[in-house]
Amino acid sequence: MPNFHSNHLKTLTYPCHAGETTFLWEAHSHRGNKLVMASSKGEPLLIRIQSKKEGGFLIKGDKVTRPTQASFLQKVLMDFRDVSEANVTYSNIEPKKFLHVKTSPYLKEIDFFAHDFKVEREIWVEIGFGSGRHLLHQAKKNPHIQFIGLEIHKPSIEQVLKQCELQGIENILVVDYDARLFMEFLPSNVVGRIFVHFPVPWDKKPHRRVFSAAFIEEALRVLHVNGTLELRTDSALYFEFSFMQMMHLSQAEVHVKKNAALEITSKYEDRWLKMEKDIYDVILTNERESEAIDKMGTLFFDEKVDFSKIRKQFKEELLRGDGFFVHFEELFESNDERGLIRISFGANERNEKCYLLIEQGKVSYLPDAILATKSNQLAHSLMKEWFHGICH
Ligand SMILES: C[S@@+](CC[C@H](N)C(=O)[O-])C[C@H]1O[C@@H](n2cnc3c(N)ncnc32)[C@H](O)[C@@H]1O
Repeated sequence: MPNFHSNHLKTLTYPCHAGETTFLWEAHSHRGNKLVMASSKGEPLLIRIQSKKEGGFLIKGDKVTRPTQASFLQKVLMDFRDVSEANVTYSNIEPKKFLHVKTSPYLKEIDFFAHDFKVEREIWVEIGFGSGRHLLHQAKKNPHIQFIGLEIHKPSIEQVLKQCELQGIENILVVDYDARLFMEFLPSNVVGRIFVHFPVPWDKKPHRRVFSAAFIEEALRVLHVNGTLELRTDSALYFEFSFMQMMHLSQAEVHVKKNAALEITSKYEDRWLKMEKDIYDVILTNERESEAIDKMGTLFFDEKVDFSKIRKQFKEELLRGDGFFVHFEELFESNDERGLIRISFGANERNEKCYLLIEQGKVSYLPDAILATKSNQLAHSLMKEWFHGICH
């Protein structure tokens, strides 16, 4: 991440300007951290200033939910360096060190699926595609299908994007997102096949498995009639666990196979075949049409709050619900009426990090546009209760 160190920073009078950036105000926490609210080209951005043990300061962009482009952040930091007349002892913010982030039209942020994704043809999803052998094979063989590949391991993602480029494959969208939470971004009845091949077995921590009752329910909703959820695994425990969850479903039929051959084997499969391990397939076929769901919106607060009460009562706090949480991490005070609370929240599997900006009796998320996923909505309600408890 772009940052610089300085022995000295001039005390600023706000607002002040440098380059294309306006520095609006600053806020301090009891832990000795400082944030500066900046705005450049209409985009708000927080700069974090930490006092170093050995003296001097570390200045960097704050890692909030959606990190701003590294080059944009570097420019804002250069403007801050200039306006605060920093005496720089280390820096990686100069243009020659701008980080080059490789982008691909086939790599999508989760927001794309919330706001812009349009279903134009049948969709097949592969969860945890790893080396991508199966995904690439299927995409080449079925050019009329839109593939969505879910993976959380970055090198695997890069490898598959590179192969798409080299082989001219244009019908795969890749997303770096936890598969357990992805299905709620898809409309109902649009998916033909969901492949889950050799998922991590998590024998000692079954709650971490991709398969759960909630996951199967969402998978059935997005599958069209006769669409299939296909698990392939070498783990007898995972096989039994998933089979048990599917057995009682009234709107779907389950088929089981042992040691069936597929057209293409993955790296994992090759390894198990060499060891002569049994391989199980569990195929769930959806038999019922599901109701449409509303398009996913964003979350906002509409109640009035009293910052003076929040200042007095704030303490670091972790609140937990069923599968979700809110962690009120740190309060930053700017003046009697304005401050920021750094929070993390959302599903246990994947947390969001952002700030709650409190200004003139109102609360807003920073950055804004927090997606109204099921777990974010639950966490949001818990935050509203928390504000209510303090302010009323
Ligand atoms: C054992 S590997 C199997 C890879 C590939 N399917 C194969 O057969 O070679 C499991 C893959 O699932 C990915 N994965 C694990 N949990 C995931 C999750 N919750 N969402 C998406 N991908 C996940 C891992 O990063 C890993 O690449």
